[in-house]
Amino acid sequence: MQTYKLNNGVEIPVIGFGTWETPNDASGAEAIKYAITQAGYTHIDTAAAYRNEESVGKAVRESGISRDKIFVTSKLWNTKRGYDNVFRAFERTMQNLQMDYLDLYLIHWPAIQSQYPDSWTQINYDTWRAMEQLYKDGKIRAIGVSNFMPHHLEPLLDKCDVVPAVNQIEVHPGYQQVEAVEFCKQKGILVEAWSPLGRGDALVNQTIMGIADRLGRTPAQVCLRWVLDKGLLPLVKSVTPTRILQNIDVFDFSLTEEDTKKIDALTDCGGMCLHPDKVTF
Ligand SMILES: NC(=O)c1ccc[n+]([C@@H]2O[C@H](COP(=O)([O-])OP(=O)(O)OC[C@H]3O[C@@H](n4cnc5c(N)ncnc54)[C@H](OP(=O)(O)O)[C@@H]3O)[C@@H](O)[C@H]2O)c1
Repeated sequence: MQTYKLNNGVEIPVIGFGTWETPNDASGAEAIKYAITQAGYTHIDTAAAYRNEESVGKAVRESGISRDKIFVTSKLWNTKRGYDNVFRAFERTMQNLQMDYLDLYLIHWPAIQSQYPDSWTQINYDTWRAMEQLYKDGKIRAIGVSNFMPHHLEPLLDKCDVVPAVNQIEVHPGYQQVEAVEFCKQKGILVEAWSPLGRGDALVNQTIMGIADRLGRTPAQVCLRWVLDKGLLPLVKSVTPTRILQNIDVFDFSLTEEDTKKIDALTDCGGMCLHPDKVTF
């Protein structure tokens, strides 16, 4: 698996295996183990909020692949913001995973002005300071954020000691977030694209289906290739063996410039299109 180099020098495999809604049971662990052992994924994305960190840990252990060959990400949930809470939440995550270090830990969503009118920047900064401490203590190889738009990142960048290595945001043909992507690139922050298939919605778009037909590939492979071509890191979820194999088989074909332009011009082909300032959780 090819890698991107994060702003602290850590290498991260260019495709991640998503696990949102992957069940925290034997079937979930089997799907993750299949991704590692049969398909060759070396990067797994989970979160405390997915309630399946145990299955991720189990799958990694049972894969027979050594821990240092798998890149594992988890995320701090919104109810655990604030300096002291982060340490407790991190310990819980490590217990769930039964691991002694994490490759990447992210703040799942920013504290926002509509919920914390006077304190949202301070809450984000206090949360970040704890992430920095865990990083400096050697418990995490890289730290980052998720669902941060430029106006959430700016106050953090003004004060932080460690620049976030990653911003994980929703990116797919139906929600391209060009401005946020460009901002992160300028700051040396790698963008991870969540829901790169628009949760499946982009796969029935006529433009994407047409390109896939012409290339003899699947619509999912076209979406993933488009994300990779932008220098972003897709996190793609499946519990279906054929799809798990298909979604990593995207390194032996190219989109033409015209294909890329056609996908760039799409605006409305599904996905959640969530704006972090409008969420209620
Ligand atoms: N940071 C955040 O706030 C955030 C938010 C959302 C997601 N994420 C991360 O990003 C990951 C991916 O996002 P996502 O799970 O929302 O959506 P996604 O990967 O865009 O789409 C997953 C859906 O597409 C189906 N699928 C997968 N491969 C397919 C293929 N080749 N052909 C047809 N259908 C296919 C899956 O079905 P089956 O599983 O049934 O095969 C599932 O229903 C998550 O799992 C999570 O790790 C992060």
